[in-house]
Amino acid sequence: MVSSAEKPAFQEIRPGVKVPAKETILTPRFYTTDFDEMAEMDISVNEDELQAILEEFRADYNRHHFVRDEEFNQSWDHIDGETRRLFVEFLERSCTAEFSGFLLYKELGRRLKGKSPVLAECFNLMSRDEARHAGFLNKAMSDFNLSLDLGFLTKSRSYTFFKPKFIFYATYLSEKIGYWRYITIYRHLQKHPEDRVYPIFRFFENWCQDENRHGDFFDAIMKSQPQMLNDWKAKLWSRFFLLSVFATMFLNDIQRSDFYASIGLDAREYDIYVIKKTNETAGRVFPVMLDVDNPKFYEYLDICIENNKKLREIDASSSPKFLKPLQKLPHYLSNGVQFIKLYFMKPIDVTEMEGAVL
Ligand SMILES: [Fe+2]
Ligand SMILES: [Fe+2]
Repeated sequence: MVSSAEKPAFQEIRPGVKVPAKETILTPRFYTTDFDEMAEMDISVNEDELQAILEEFRADYNRHHFVRDEEFNQSWDHIDGETRRLFVEFLERSCTAEFSGFLLYKELGRRLKGKSPVLAECFNLMSRDEARHAGFLNKAMSDFNLSLDLGFLTKSRSYTFFKPKFIFYATYLSEKIGYWRYITIYRHLQKHPEDRVYPIFRFFENWCQDENRHGDFFDAIMKSQPQMLNDWKAKLWSRFFLLSVFATMFLNDIQRSDFYASIGLDAREYDIYVIKKTNETAGRVFPVMLDVDNPKFYEYLDICIENNKKLREIDASSSPKFLKPLQKLPHYLSNGVQFIKLYFMKPIDVTEMEGAVL
């Protein structure tokens, strides 16, 4: 056991159960959608591919994967101080994101049952995977003497409503970026085993294949609804979702560079690689990709990093409470301006290249 003096300062709902991190624009989101509209979707143009993906889900390749082995059975007290805090935060964020997928897919499986059987079963099997992922991460948190009360999280979080089309854009991207995040960490630690300071990273190789299959499922659904991909609105929305997902990850990760450093990764290089790969993958289904090789892309994002740093400094400062919103305003405005500049950067049109191997 760790003495309370050595524990990082986390608030607890009750002993060992962590108060969930405060919701902000950068924390993982919980979603809900129009279930009737989704149930009425005609998927027949791509039913064969969806059926093939369903067979893969049924095969359940990772049935025996998420079993904690003896390497977990040791004390993790040597991961202490700031590194311990960053570890717990990483596990909590990952667990919350996985659990948010579980809740959405579970609900979709339930609501589509009897109305759209192929989709209903796919969602149920994906919720099985996400439950395993979230459970495994929550168990890992308990190695650091904390855990999340997932029932409490279900009730206490606010849910963002998205029309089915936007749910597909958002979940497709979060699955694919999840795949690239996990596999990149895995490959790095394979080359540098001395940096693998905790066993969970060893599970990421098979784990990320689940996320890849989930992403392929949303790719196949969107292709069954060509109207979601082939008009000018789809181009504008794809840009919006790509940018939101990339910017959120970049701002989050740079702020937590020390966590990545603790496993031997440079957060900036890691993110640039993950963004590049996810952007290329997304080009197989979305009508546009972002021009992430344009130096302006990271120049604008770096201004947001600076703004966020200033915002945190204002929060931590001793300025009177009424003054803080005023002090923050120019930084919020600047973030808005950067986002608009990023959004209006010329994207790469991939409509012509549809089907090409990227
Ligand atoms: Fe997952
Ligand atoms: Fe997933």
